[in-house]
Order: sequence, then C-alpha cells, then structure tokens
Amino acid sequence: MIKFENVNVTYPGGVVALKDINLEIKEGDFIIIVGLSGAGKSTLLRTINNLVKPSSGTVYLEGADVTNAKKKELKLIRSKIGMIFQTFNLVNRSTVLKNVLTGRLSNVSTIKSILGLWPKDEKKLAFEALNQVEILEKAYVRASNLSGGQQQRVGIARALSQKPKVMLADEPVASLDPITSRVVMSYLKKINTELGITTIVNLHFLDLAKEFGDRLIGLRDGKLVFDGNVNEVSDDDFENIYGRSIKSSDLIGDD
Ligand SMILES: Nc1ncnc2c1ncn2[C@@H]1O[C@H](COP(=O)(O)OP(=O)(O)OP(=O)(O)O)[C@@H](O)[C@H]1O
Ligand SMILES: [Mg+2]
Repeated sequence: MIKFENVNVTYPGGVVALKDINLEIKEGDFIIIVGLSGAGKSTLLRTINNLVKPSSGTVYLEGADVTNAKKKELKLIRSKIGMIFQTFNLVNRSTVLKNVLTGRLSNVSTIKSILGLWPKDEKKLAFEALNQVEILEKAYVRASNLSGGQQQRVGIARALSQKPKVMLADEPVASLDPITSRVVMSYLKKINTELGITTIVNLHFLDLAKEFGDRLIGLRDGKLVFDGNVNEVSDDDFENIYGRSIKSSDLIGDD
C-alpha cells in the first residue's frame, strides 16, 4: 500500500529529519509511530502526501510514485489520503455538517460549495461519516460548541467522508484528556477494522500504542530504530527509541 525507499529529508537550514527510511505498509495495517519530539514523526507522515518532499528516495502509494508525481496525479493521490490533526482544524463558526462536507470539496464545484448547494449524495456521505463516529445528532451544531473529543470525531468524519484509502493522524489525541483520548483512538481503530482503511497514527505515548496498536514503528533522530509488534518492545528497544533518560515504566502503564 505504502512504500518508503531510501527516504531522506533534510530541511532548508540543514536539519536532517529523516535518515534512509525503508518501510513497507500493507493494506489494512494499523500502525503507530512513536518517538521523542523532533524524532521525525510528522515529517514521515507528511512525505506520504508529499506535503514534505524527500531530499532523496521515493515514497509510493499503491505503486504510484508520490514523491515525483505531477500536479494532477498528486491531486488524485491526495484525494485517497485522509488527514487528522492534533488541533482538529475545524471551521469553528460552521456547523458540524458543513465541516464534514469540506471533506467532499474536491468532488463538488467551487460555486456550488460556496452557495451551500451540496448535492444529495454528498450530504448522504457526510451523514454516513458522522454516523460512523456516532455523532450524527450534532450535525447542525456549531463546531465551536462541541467538546474537544467530539471535535476530533468530526475531524475523523471529515476525513472519512473523503472515502480515503489511507488515514494519517498526527498526534490526534495530544490535546485531549486520557479518557477522551481512548475514545478517539477506539474510533480510529474501529474505522480501520470495519472499513479496512490503512491507518497511521503518530503518538507520544507508548501506553496508548500498547492498547490500540499492532505494529509499532520507533523513530529516533530521523532513523527507524524499531519496527515490530508493540507487545514485543523490549527494554533495549525502548532505550533505542527514547534513550536512557526515560524508564519504560514512565511511559507504559502497569497493567
Ligand atoms: N519546516 C521545517 N523547517 C526546518 N526544520 C523543520 C521543519 N519541520 C520540522 N523540522 C525539524 O525536523 C526535525 C523533525 O521534526 P518533526 O516535526 O518531524 O518531528 P516530530 O517527531 O513530529 O516532533 P513532535 O513530537 O514535536 O511533533 C526537528 O528537528 C524539527 O525541528
Ligand atoms: Mg510532530
């Protein structure tokens, strides 16, 4: 589904954010990426839709070269990728429904969307997406009147309405309390299991990764230092990801 081939990213100014990443992600995978701040997690996600262009190497999505795609092809590739953000990125003064409909923007003419003339089919997809995250009853509420967890569910619904093949979530629960974080994570997991959408989630914490993840990828200083099942992370692996300064018990809940 997604393949990284010798991917390097050096930002202008010389920061090396990714070093020789080789990685294969299968259709339907649910992957969690962990690493300290600055390890390169966001950069890695962004190379998948070419928001960050690798300095060398190539990223492929369903066999298509994302890194070197021309404008039109890149648009098509991006339409297959749903994004979920830490700060939700909703239009606060718009209703939940309108926010979700923006996920369908690439399928509707600009004039129609400005006038709010959304075709019935488009609305149906938006309602379906809201139903998937069980927040249908909030369709006509202003986004700003929802709690953080509800706003993130709208964020998920917006990404879903796009009918994506791949869902990228960059620290989707970093602004939420621990309980709400679990609710949001379980919706991401549900969507992955029920709809088969390949999902990649960046997280800071291993406890959530342990609860929800299958495959864990660890990054440190731009290098891939772990790739395996989250339940097989040894103390040595942990040290490779986080360094000596943190004990695994600090980040993994005792259960
Ligand atoms: N646009 C940019 N220009 C220059 N340097 C950047 C840019 N974006 C990120 N960096 C640098 O690249 C490195 C990796 O950053 P990245 O945002 O991918 O890390 P991260 O693992 O997502 O961190 P966090 O957990 O804090 O979100 C960091 O050193 C960061 O300062
Ligand atoms: Mg980040």
